[in-house]
This record gives sequence, C-alpha cells and structure tokens, in this order.
Amino acid sequence: MPKKVAIIGGSGLSTLGEDEPRVVSDTRATPYGTTSADIIYNQYAGAESYFLARHGNPHHIAPHRINYRANLWALKQLGVEQVIAVNAVGGINSGMPPASLVLPDQLIDYTHGRESSFYDGVHESLDHIDFSHPFSSGMLKDLAEQAQSQGITIHQGGVYGVTQGPRLETAAEVKRLARDGCDIVGMTAMPEAALARELAIEYVSICLVVNPAAGCSERLITMEEIHHVLDEGLVVVKKLIKTYLAVQK
Ligand code: HPA
Repeated sequence: MPKKVAIIGGSGLSTLGEDEPRVVSDTRATPYGTTSADIIYNQYAGAESYFLARHGNPHHIAPHRINYRANLWALKQLGVEQVIAVNAVGGINSGMPPASLVLPDQLIDYTHGRESSFYDGVHESLDHIDFSHPFSSGMLKDLAEQAQSQGITIHQGGVYGVTQGPRLETAAEVKRLARDGCDIVGMTAMPEAALARELAIEYVSICLVVNPAAGCSERLITMEEIHHVLDEGLVVVKKLIKTYLAVQK
C-alpha cells in the first residue's frame, strides 16, 4: 500500500497546480481551531496526495500566527502518514546561495510563544517525544535519490534555524545562528516538525534558499529578489515532489 502523503506548501506555493484538485470538505475545523486553508486532495503525478497552503490561500497568515496544530491534526484525521514540507529560507552557509535546495537533517528552534504541542496537559496528557532526529531519515534518503535521478542538485543535510519572524534577522543574530551551526534560517519548520512527530507522521522539509541571510551579503534583502528566486526554484521543487509521489504509487 502506498503511504498517504501530504504537501505543506510555504511562501510562493499556495497550490500545486494539480491534475485534478478537489477540496476535502469538513476538514478545516479541528479541536485546535481552523486550518490555514482548505485541504486539497489531488491526483498529482497520478498519485493520491493532499495539499495544504501553510500561509493560507491566498497567502496572508504570518509564520507566528499559523495554526500549526490544526494543520497537522486535520492531516492526521485524513490518514496522512508522510508530510513533505516546502520552506523558503535564507542561506547562512556560503555553500548555500540563493536558488540552492537543501534537505535539512537537523534544526534548532528559536521560536517562542507558539502553540507547539498536542501533549500540553489540556487536550492530551503530558508526554515527551523523542526528537533527536527531527526529520524522517527514510524520506530524506528517498528524496535525495529521486533528486539525483532527475539531475536536481540538492544539499543533503544541514541545520535549519527556526526564528520567530515575521521580521528578518539582524546581522548579529545571523552570526549567532552561524556559531550555533545553522546552515539556513527560516520561520516555519517549528513547531510543524515536532507536531508531526507527536502524531507519528513522517516529516521532511525541502528548503529553497531565497536570499542570503542578513549580513551574509553586501546587499539588503528585497522581496522582489525573493519572489524572483521563488518563482524559478519552486518549479524544481514541484518536479522533485512529483517524482517522489510517482515512485510511491
Ligand atoms: N530569515 C528567516 N526566514 C526566511 C528568510 C530569512 O532570511 N528568508 C526566507 N525566509
């Protein structure tokens, strides 16, 4: 049986451009509130999958205001077993300039004040999950193999520093992230990855570097530049996801 896969799209990815999209009704309301958008069922690449726009469709929900719990909970209710998250990030590692794709294998959480657990002692009793390796090693391996088969260059492994946003970081903050060992910086992998783990959903993130992180380049970061990189990079990300899904069916 193929695994049920969901794609959580980030900035620039509010739909997949599916072959036969269909809104899954009654999935927005959860005990944790409402999902970011309707969950779309589709036959992308001839394989069944779900799609959820993390920031809403159209994009309007800031990273710190996303209802990550509702999103993951709703996907779990649909029987989703694997999540491929797509995240736009800034590059800290000089080997990861704009347009690079990265499959991080570690993260550091710098966010605060987000609802970050189902096991909060309110909805579910208190529990502590193992989170030593936040991303699914099996999915990382499969995605890396499929990237190679498609001639897509992708960095295997890296540390994703998750910041609160929505503002970008100061140059000094990025220096600190670099000292901590972060290769990339974004705002949305947490608590998403931890919530997926709590629900026993395998989780992986395909990161597209859309700008050099603050202070890593002489130039200031502009949204114009970011959108340009997003448009081109997401074409490649979609190709990789399509290949992954086609192999799963
Ligand atoms: N920092 C944090 N989040 C981001 C960045 C960044 O530089 N670029 C895209 N998302």
